[in-house]
Amino acid sequence: MSKVNTSLKNKAHLDEARANKNDEFYTNREDIDKELQHYHKLLKGKVIYCNCDDYRWSKFYDYFKDNFDIIKPKKVIFTCLKQDKKAKKIVITKSGIKKSKIEGTGSYDSKESIKILKSADVVITNPPYSLYREYIDLLDNHKKDYLLVGPMGSIIYRDIQPLVIDNKMNIGYTILGPFRDTVGNKVLGAPSLWFTSLDIDTSVKHFELTKSITDSGPVFYDDENILSVSKYRDIPYDYSGFMGVPISFMRHFDRNQFDIIKIRKGFNGKDLQINDKVVFNRVIIKRKTNAYPNKNSKQKS
Ligand SMILES: C[S@@+](CC[C@H](N)C(=O)[O-])C[C@H]1O[C@@H](n2cnc3c(N)ncnc32)[C@H](O)[C@@H]1O
Repeated sequence: MSKVNTSLKNKAHLDEARANKNDEFYTNREDIDKELQHYHKLLKGKVIYCNCDDYRWSKFYDYFKDNFDIIKPKKVIFTCLKQDKKAKKIVITKSGIKKSKIEGTGSYDSKESIKILKSADVVITNPPYSLYREYIDLLDNHKKDYLLVGPMGSIIYRDIQPLVIDNKMNIGYTILGPFRDTVGNKVLGAPSLWFTSLDIDTSVKHFELTKSITDSGPVFYDDENILSVSKYRDIPYDYSGFMGVPISFMRHFDRNQFDIIKIRKGFNGKDLQINDKVVFNRVIIKRKTNAYPNKNSKQKS
């Protein structure tokens, strides 16, 4: 190979590593097992597309290979970005596993991948967080169902907020553990959640409220009729007004227990503050009037 070609290849490799710097966090098999068991019925007979999954590293591939006969989807297709243009498509059907080359880079938004996307019923993956907004846009534009691992902080993105508030984007059942890096070590990565457009059985998610509003003197945000609750466990059972909770509350959000009213800003459109200090990344919730309040069912408002 000529010097020019070698340095071009090295540059492409470096570009790829740089581009993927924050994207190489792999989902652990136990997290996939715990979450996907809840969707088996919904996935029966469906075409599933994992479009950010290199079959050599992705545990989604292992999961569907091992569970194909239990879930009985129509097929499961895997592609992933390969900047050297040696992208592959892997298809699992009841007759076996087929590997083939595909045109282009295998990027989820390449011509070939979009063609597969159009043929799919549901997309299941952990996509690159650096492209998360664009990725959700693409699924939304193609009206595709999805089950994704994504950054918890994405709920404050302007385009994603309304999906969460309107329960079009549900939070999955389970809490993710650490990820794996490219060599298999455990790494924390960004706080993450399972997000899905599929229907969720919220009875599995309901959590018990045990604290009273009188347990610690109630604190309200400046100029807002919103109670500040700094830990989700402190959400009182005896208050039914607006409450601001940290976004980590989303891990426990049961849409039959609470409504999400707003994300990030208060009713006056400004960041929430306590004693003139901004409190970031809050979700404003309200308990559903018909929700079981827990702890003796007493209620003040
Ligand atoms: C967060 S990792 C997760 C990998 C795998 N889905 C999993 O859950 O273990 C995201 C993966 O997407 C790949 N990727 C980055 N950009 C991509 C693109 N434009 N199209 C498809 N895959 C991409 C990365 O190489 C990386 O392997």
